[in-house]
Amino acid sequence: MKTVNKTPLWFMRQAGRYLPEYMKIRSENPDFLKLCFNPNLASEISLQPIRRFDLDFIILFSDILVIPFCLGQDVKFLKNHGPSLTPIFSKKDLNYSNLKKCLDKLANIFETLKVLNSKRGKKNLIGFCGGPFTVLNYMIEGGTSLSHSKIKKYIKYQKKEALEIIRILTEVSIEYLKKQIESGANYIQIFESWAGLLEKEEYSDFIIKPNKEISVEIKKFSKRTKIIHFPRGSGNNYKNFVEEVYCDVISLDQNYPTDLLNLLRKKEITVQGNLDPQELLKDTITVEQKTKEVLEKFKENNHIFNLSHGILPKTKISNIEKVIKVIKEYETSK
Ligand code: CP3
Repeated sequence: MKTVNKTPLWFMRQAGRYLPEYMKIRSENPDFLKLCFNPNLASEISLQPIRRFDLDFIILFSDILVIPFCLGQDVKFLKNHGPSLTPIFSKKDLNYSNLKKCLDKLANIFETLKVLNSKRGKKNLIGFCGGPFTVLNYMIEGGTSLSHSKIKKYIKYQKKEALEIIRILTEVSIEYLKKQIESGANYIQIFESWAGLLEKEEYSDFIIKPNKEISVEIKKFSKRTKIIHFPRGSGNNYKNFVEEVYCDVISLDQNYPTDLLNLLRKKEITVQGNLDPQELLKDTITVEQKTKEVLEKFKENNHIFNLSHGILPKTKISNIEKVIKVIKEYETSK
């Protein structure tokens, strides 16, 4: 049975381009990465959706690609194009000498979290990183790719080199998350957005093993910190994932096996999700109906309401407000 009455709520990419107040700061700051390293502005952006909506979680404003940047890779965010990285081929192409130097480059992000921690009141504060495979994907592809052909070839024909970079990313991510926890994050989310590209042995070596290591080390470091995993697109592998990797919360997309919810109840893992962000581009009646469907679907589970992926830039603010209203009404009608 459910142990909480109220369904807590946040939206992936809640700080972002659908908000006019974000667009204002963004237009005055064309360098996205610089914005991620500016504690005043990054904390302000993190709080923008909180001021507008009654959300239960503040998420750090940053990006998963600050890690390749601190490893010495050239990372840029091009207007209307997304990230652009100078592709690498092996760990030798990185300028990575030691962990401390790398974390020093991320110091401003810890400052942002400290500001947020001082202002968060009773709200939860989420720190995050990319899953090692997802970050590797961008490092090898050099940006967003439709075919993912380079990364697929890379892990097939240069598995040893790929696993060497995964090792570095796992190590850096663990220390990065620990520092985020020390700076005030009480939740951490690991965005393994491209987990769905892999199957069988590759899923085990590139998704399960590194995510498991991160969970183990974070729990050793801080028992009270909640870990949210988001191995997007895992499909039937969601079950293997939660059997192998410690999760306090698992974030789901649209496609998961029906008996997964029973398994999550048995293991007392909270479900996060899973309104399709595409639905938020439609009319209010659809938004209302789809929000209710999500609440119904997870009513027997511990549930954090969220989307199955990030909010799309064209989303109307009135539709976000509608979702929140429907959740509130659903709570009081029970
Ligand atoms: O959720 C939040 O509000 C916190 C901030 C956050 C951003 N990126 C800000 C951002 C988080 C948690 C991320 C995670 C992230 N970044 C992921 C994992 C989640 C996912 O979407 O799968 C990935 C793969 C990235 C890499 C990335 N960053 C891409 C592919 C892009 C371009 C596409 C896009 O959505 O714009 C970004 C840019 C980015 N990261 C923006 C924001 C607000 C837009 C930048 C802009 O203002 O132009």
